[in-house]
Amino acid sequence: MLESETSRTPWVNPPHELALADNAVDVWLISLTQREAVDGSFADLLSSAERERAARFKFDKHRRPYVVAHAGLRLILSQYLKTEPADLQFFTGVNGKPSLAPEFAGSGLQFNLSHSHEMALLGVTRRHEIGVDIEWIKEDYGFDEVAEQFFTKKEVSQLRALPVDLRRQAFFKCWTSKEAFLKAKGTGLSGNLDEVEIALAENQRVRIDARVPGWTLMELNPGGTYEATVVVEGGSLPVNCYRWEPTR
Ligand SMILES: CC(C)(COP(=O)(O)OP(=O)(O)OC[C@H]1O[C@@H](n2cnc3c(N)ncnc32)[C@H](O)[C@@H]1OP(=O)(O)O)[C@@H](O)C(=O)NCCC(=O)NCCS
Repeated sequence: MLESETSRTPWVNPPHELALADNAVDVWLISLTQREAVDGSFADLLSSAERERAARFKFDKHRRPYVVAHAGLRLILSQYLKTEPADLQFFTGVNGKPSLAPEFAGSGLQFNLSHSHEMALLGVTRRHEIGVDIEWIKEDYGFDEVAEQFFTKKEVSQLRALPVDLRRQAFFKCWTSKEAFLKAKGTGLSGNLDEVEIALAENQRVRIDARVPGWTLMELNPGGTYEATVVVEGGSLPVNCYRWEPTR
């Protein structure tokens, strides 16, 4: 069975009451250029450890996206948990994967966060491990060398077999897929087991497929110059794609 599919769901505003079923995935696109971060209101939601981490960024252009992403994470998760954003507590697993602290385990809520340039992506499920990755497609990025270093031989040859003008986008699709596997498992890549197929679909679009037992990969369409992928434990699940508006 092909354990991969592309989400064609449009990015919509979320419902006022969030009700995430056990067999669904919510993904949230978060713009990191929110004004609220500037006046400090987002920083008030963070824990002291998060505030310390934010303070360690030398430049405001790096600190601000961190604050917005983590405030967004808290504001969104608190809606599912019906609690105050500042009251959420997190736990870091042995391999560095963050999850909700044990006192919130009853909800079964799992999440994973990714950020790149001016966007963040948050994936949320119940009782399924999840990994997400979003990448800004940088025009001057030397993707050929990076592919040589991190992709399998088969992936590199499939990438090179594509028309030249599609290779950059294909690289980022492949990269976000492998990163999402890595982040879902929280344990790192498992060599060729996490190999993906890079193919040209009939509509001349690049398609990424994966047959990694026990996991399903779904390509997302974040728009603009971004690529994004979500990987969930188990079989294919319906994906709700939400745009995050802090005022809602
Ligand atoms: C976290 C990691 C797994 C991904 O980092 P990244 O792509 O630079 O960053 P992203 O924005 O996608 O993800 C960062 C977020 O993931 C979460 N995260 C951190 N460690 C994680 C882990 N081990 N597993 C899952 N999620 C993790 C955190 O929420 C983090 O956000 P924060 O730093 O603001 O707290 C990174 O540590 C890493 O090791 N990357 C490996 C790169 C690589 O070799 N890739 C090969 C691809 S072919």
